[in-house]
Amino acid sequence: MSRLQARVGTLRQLEILLAVHDMGTVTAAAAALHLTQPTVSMQLHKLAEAMGIPLYEQHGRKLRFTDAGLAAVASARRVMEEFEHLDMTLADLRGLKAGTLRLSVVTTAKYFVPHLLGPFCTLYPGVDVAFHVGNRGQVIERLEQGLDDFYVFSHVPVGPPLEASAFLDNPLVAIAAENHPLARRQPLTLADIAREPFLMRESGSGTRHAIEQYLGQQGQALNVKMTVESNEAIRHSVMAGLGISILSAHTLNLGGWVGLVPLKVVGLPIVTQWYLVRPSKKRLSVVARAFQQFMENEGRAVLADFVEDADRFVATPNPGVQ
Ligand code: PGA
Repeated sequence: MSRLQARVGTLRQLEILLAVHDMGTVTAAAAALHLTQPTVSMQLHKLAEAMGIPLYEQHGRKLRFTDAGLAAVASARRVMEEFEHLDMTLADLRGLKAGTLRLSVVTTAKYFVPHLLGPFCTLYPGVDVAFHVGNRGQVIERLEQGLDDFYVFSHVPVGPPLEASAFLDNPLVAIAAENHPLARRQPLTLADIAREPFLMRESGSGTRHAIEQYLGQQGQALNVKMTVESNEAIRHSVMAGLGISILSAHTLNLGGWVGLVPLKVVGLPIVTQWYLVRPSKKRLSVVARAFQQFMENEGRAVLADFVEDADRFVATPNPGVQ
């Protein structure tokens, strides 16, 4: 064993440490790594011994990482990234683009991002994709931890330096059940919809953030009857007559309009943009660079079917919305 290994552990131990940190328990990490629980515990113990400082405290089945443990996790992540990068560079030098593309997107982007990944993976059959979907708050957490190559948001988060490029409009449209009384009374005003029972996405959602920000600017407060953690559940709740809502038009295309109608409201839709985001400081892997080029050269063309005809949702007069 080298002197360095004796002080900071082996690569395998760092990998185990990362798995335990990311998965929260020894049991889950053992299952993910196809190891037994005692092996994981023993390797963690050896790692702490090598480092000469406790890395975590046990609270029931959960582990709480100490400052030393968190520092070890951060370094372990960089070491693993470095090895992954080497693996991809070697694959590239051997002439085959291979490796993993890590992508985290907000829930509303899951309706169209797979349609980008399809042709990308056809172009690069050696590439695996780790595709994570969460609400805006969860995806921001992953961005802060530097877990992925790219992120898709409709509002670029403020904080660490980021590169962001817009690639698609995101119209947020008001919807009601097709037999809802408002469906026959159009054009409507924002005050009309503010009075109705409203189904709102959960806190942390980017859709909610955009709605609250825009309605706030317009001096309107919604009558929120229900908070719902999923676009699909909102669609069904609206269909079931529980209230009206505002959702991204992307959640409704490809069959999602069944039983629903768009409400033409003066001042809607709220039009934001979808951005491909990456931390400026994170080095691009070979595969990530290939995906970036694919998005620059072909992203808009591939998504042509997802460009919504915003006129469909516009009531006149429309003051114009940004
Ligand atoms: P959401 O995000 O799926 O968390 O609502 C969508 C967005 O950022 O617009």
